[in-house]
Amino acid sequence: MNIIRKLLAPLALWSLLAPLAALAQQPQPPSPEKLFDPIASVLQHPRCLNCHMAEKPFQKDAQVPHAQMIVRGADGKGAPTMRCAACHQDKNSADGRVPGAPHWHLAPTSMAWEGLSRAQLCRSIKDPAKNGNRQTMAQVIDHMKVDPLVLWAWNPGDGRSTPSLSHADFVKALETWAAAGGACSAGAK
Ligand code: HEC
Ligand code: HEC
Repeated sequence: MNIIRKLLAPLALWSLLAPLAALAQQPQPPSPEKLFDPIASVLQHPRCLNCHMAEKPFQKDAQVPHAQMIVRGADGKGAPTMRCAACHQDKNSADGRVPGAPHWHLAPTSMAWEGLSRAQLCRSIKDPAKNGNRQTMAQVIDHMKVDPLVLWAWNPGDGRSTPSLSHADFVKALETWAAAGGACSAGAK
C-alpha cells in the first residue's frame, strides 16, 4: 500500500500543478509597445526621419544637416533661391547620388518627429491636429501604403540603407497594430 502511494504521489502533484502551468502559458495580448515597436523602427529610420524634421532636412545615416545650408522655406520646398526641385527630381538621379521622388519636400512642422519618443510618435501620427487632418487610422496607414515619398525609403539609391522591415512587413505591422485597437503606450517613452 505504502509503495503504491509513493508511486502515485508525483502524479497527484502533477494533477495539481498542470492547470497552474497551463494558466501561466496562456498567451497574453501583446502590449501596445510590442505592437508599435516594429513600426517605430521604420518611422525613426534615417530615410524617414531626415525629411520629418522641423527646420531643415538632414542627410545620411549619421543624420547630419543637409549640405548647401538647405532650409525649409515658407512651403517646405526650400528658400526661394534654393528650391528642393532644383536638385531633387521625381526619381533618383541615374547614378543614385541625388535622391528623388514626386513632390520631394520637407514634412510640415506638425509632422516633425525629431526627438520624439516612440510613445509620442505613436500619438503624433494618430492626432488629426498633427497628421494632416487624417481622422482614421486607415487614412494614416493608406498614406504609408502608397505615398511615393514613403516608398522611396525602400529604393533610396546610392547604397543608402533601408528600414530593417520590408515595406510589405511594415504594412502588415501597421494593420496588426490597428486591428488590435491601435493603442499607444501610456508612458512618456
Ligand atoms: C522627401 C521627404 C519625405 C520622406 C523621405 C518621408 N516623408 Fe513622410 N511626409 C513627407 C511630407 C511632405 C508629408 C506631408 C504630406 C501629406 O500629409 O500628405 C509626409 C507625411 C507623412 C505621414 C502622414 C502624417 C502623419 O503624421 O501621420 C506619415 C505617416 C509619413 N509621412 C510617414 C513616413 C514614413 C514611414 C517614411 C519613411 C518610410 C516617410 N514618411 C518618409 C515627407 C517625407
Ligand atoms: C543643391 C542641390 C540640392 C537642393 C537644393 C536640395 N537637396 Fe536634398 N540632397 C541633395 C543631394 C546631392 C543629396 C544626397 C546627399 C548624400 O547622400 O550624399 C540630398 C539628400 C537629401 C536628403 C537625404 C536623404 C537621406 O535620407 O539620406 C533629404 C531628406 C533631402 N535631400 C531633402 C531636401 C529637401 C527637403 C530640400 C528642399 C528644402 C532639398 N533636399 C534641397 C541635393 C539638394
